[in-house]
Amino acid sequence: MPDRTCNVALVGTKFMGRAHSNAYLNVAKFFDLPVAPVMHTVAARNEQETRNFAKRWGWQNATTDWQSAVANQEVDLVDIVTPNNVHTEHAIAALEAGKHVACEKPLANTLDNARQMVEAAEKSQGKTFVWYNYRRCPAVAFAHQLCKQGKLGRIYQIRGCYLQDWAGPDTPLMWRFDGEVAGSGSLGDLCAHTIDTARFITGDEVSEVIGATMETVIKERVVLESSGGEISGRGAATSTKKGASTVDDIVLFVARMDSGALATFEATRLSTGYKNANRLEIHGEKGAIRFNFERMNELDWYDATLPEELQGWSTINVTNGNANHPYAAAWWPVAHVLGYEHSFVNQAADIFNVIGGQAAVVPLPDFADAYKVQRVLAAVVESDKNRSPVRLAEIK
Ligand SMILES: NC(=O)c1ccc[n+]([C@@H]2O[C@H](COP(=O)([O-])OP(=O)(O)OC[C@H]3O[C@@H](n4cnc5c(N)ncnc54)[C@H](O)[C@@H]3O)[C@@H](O)[C@H]2O)c1
Repeated sequence: MPDRTCNVALVGTKFMGRAHSNAYLNVAKFFDLPVAPVMHTVAARNEQETRNFAKRWGWQNATTDWQSAVANQEVDLVDIVTPNNVHTEHAIAALEAGKHVACEKPLANTLDNARQMVEAAEKSQGKTFVWYNYRRCPAVAFAHQLCKQGKLGRIYQIRGCYLQDWAGPDTPLMWRFDGEVAGSGSLGDLCAHTIDTARFITGDEVSEVIGATMETVIKERVVLESSGGEISGRGAATSTKKGASTVDDIVLFVARMDSGALATFEATRLSTGYKNANRLEIHGEKGAIRFNFERMNELDWYDATLPEELQGWSTINVTNGNANHPYAAAWWPVAHVLGYEHSFVNQAADIFNVIGGQAAVVPLPDFADAYKVQRVLAAVVESDKNRSPVRLAEIK
């Protein structure tokens, strides 16, 4: 174990609270890190639930006072896994206290809030990180490396879609359907990941949203009476009263990249039959790649430089540590496959590597980087509102 430690305070305890706690518990078991993570404090709103959570996951302290947790002199890294509208307050308080901050995506509910976070990060000694965790699926990190090595050549076209189906008419009115809290619906929840992954793999930026449309299909939902339940609200108590959903259920947009490549993005939580199909296809002059999170260990690869009679899609199982597949050497023998939680463990490893002065395996998004995704989200909303193209240069 390294001599240096990094005390972590986690704010939030539900879906992402569990995913991140699992990452902190396991990261030093699988990776050799320059600093050892210590699960110092967890903060959330319900006292008993937070205490139970701390006991179950191994946090040393539990509190309902997030301010004291983020200001605690012993804490080095504050990890924010709360709904999007409170990221700004939590992150700025932590940065002003001189902490490193890891924040869930999207960076914030509004562009203004996201900008304030970037400004606070610029003034702080603390390093910042954003949990665009799909970058750390080995197959996605490998696609980034292939693209960087020029294996795809000039990129012609990007096709991204993120499809889930849990948000039908029976799904209650959780924070994810409240525009004030979430900022947007499928756009910020799902499409933000695909936009980030496309930028990450290609190294290219969106220069223009050519056209976008966002639709609230289910306009009213039953009101929740308790917190709890799953991501779909199943298991939570509901009333018979209904309230308005103020976010997009479906978003579609066409974009142009700085390089001139064209891109289409689609995200919805109403695509009956698809559970978590975070898919990206990238076509270049020398080759193409295809990724689908529902088969996250695989990267489809097409080599257009092979003799024509040998050309065809191949499926690479990206789990071979001996072949230098990213992150694979830390885990299991080849084809002993990884799951959702490993992307968070891999990201935690890179966060502690960077805090300890070492390099991440592949680039980690900081607040300034995640702000670029936030600008694309804002351009999509603007394009939908005005039924017109929006250049990213117009979005400050
Ligand atoms: N990276 C991913 O794949 C991924 C997946 C799901 C969610 N997320 C992001 O993670 C964040 C949290 O989402 P979730 O699904 O875990 O939500 P959730 O509803 O399951 O949990 C939210 C937590 O925040 C706490 N909380 C809410 N308001 C608070 C406040 N004002 N002060 C302190 N605590 C508060 C709640 O008590 C709860 O513990 C969101 O930003 C979301 O977009 C990311």
